[in-house]
Amino acid sequence: MPSPRPRSKTGPATKPLPSAAKSAAPLTSKAASPRVALITGAAVGIGAAIAKRLAQDGLHVIVSDRDLKAATKTANAIQKTGGLATPLELDVGSAESIAAAFAQVGKTFKRCDVLVNNAGIAKTYPFIDFPLDNWNATMNINLTGTLLCSQHAARLMRKRRWGRIISIASVAGMRAVGSGRTAYGTSKAAVIGLMRQIAAELTVEGITANAIAPGPVDTPLTQVLHSPAFRKAYTAAIPAGRYGLTTEIAAMAAFLASDQAAYVSGAAIPVDGGFYAAGARGV
Ligand SMILES: NC(=O)c1ccc[n+]([C@@H]2O[C@H](COP(=O)([O-])OP(=O)(O)OC[C@H]3O[C@@H](n4cnc5c(N)ncnc54)[C@H](O)[C@@H]3O)[C@@H](O)[C@H]2O)c1
Repeated sequence: MPSPRPRSKTGPATKPLPSAAKSAAPLTSKAASPRVALITGAAVGIGAAIAKRLAQDGLHVIVSDRDLKAATKTANAIQKTGGLATPLELDVGSAESIAAAFAQVGKTFKRCDVLVNNAGIAKTYPFIDFPLDNWNATMNINLTGTLLCSQHAARLMRKRRWGRIISIASVAGMRAVGSGRTAYGTSKAAVIGLMRQIAAELTVEGITANAIAPGPVDTPLTQVLHSPAFRKAYTAAIPAGRYGLTTEIAAMAAFLASDQAAYVSGAAIPVDGGFYAAGARGV
């Protein structure tokens, strides 16, 4: 990893865009133009860990979420540790919200070097009775949101001929994980396909696109979604013998966001303690 860029030590409390742009912490001369990373769904869980990590690596992180209050809290916490962070309201389920947020980013920062498509939802139902409204909501947020954010970000990246599009898919997009993930698993498989398509078109312009496929990670999402019985069975199927940490997903995102990952594009990388590779354990 490149050594961290100098960061501002002090700064006013974080405010959402556009006012935050005016009140942003003064930058040192070396950090006059840090790379800008927008992370969706960054208020809590994996997204928050990625925002923290990229800020540690010297990027100016835009902590976007549909929950602006929670995003502001996370951005403030990053600023308190000396990182550059700006909260932004962005609902990836709404094309209008996405367009407005990226217009604001373009106006304020004039760049978006790294996009992490992290926001996602998951609910499980038996396949036979899978409700259409949840299918549509899941596809809209997990897949269409990723498409639209990637398009907006790529337009800004293209101007500098450098960019990193990273999508948090799931190991459930590479193989089935138990039952009930009709919409979730399909949406994540499609996200992996989408990253390949973007890579095929934009790598030539210096913009890479990759998917991270996490195994289970303890976050507010899985605390609700995973029952104790599911948790036990899932853990038994993972060679590492445990759930992953949000920081372990963030470490992969930090690598893919770096200059060192210039030759990685169109990949789907499991970060899952060996779960995808292992198959039937104990056989
Ligand atoms: N936790 C896991 O085990 C796991 C495993 C594989 C993949 N993932 C994926 O990682 C990503 C993050 O998961 P998590 O567990 O941290 O989730 P989480 O539910 O704990 O946090 C998700 C965040 O996204 C925000 N969000 C939800 N819908 C949004 C929308 N429409 N627009 C903007 N923000 C929205 C929420 O407000 C929240 O801050 C998701 O895409 C998820 O599918 C998670």
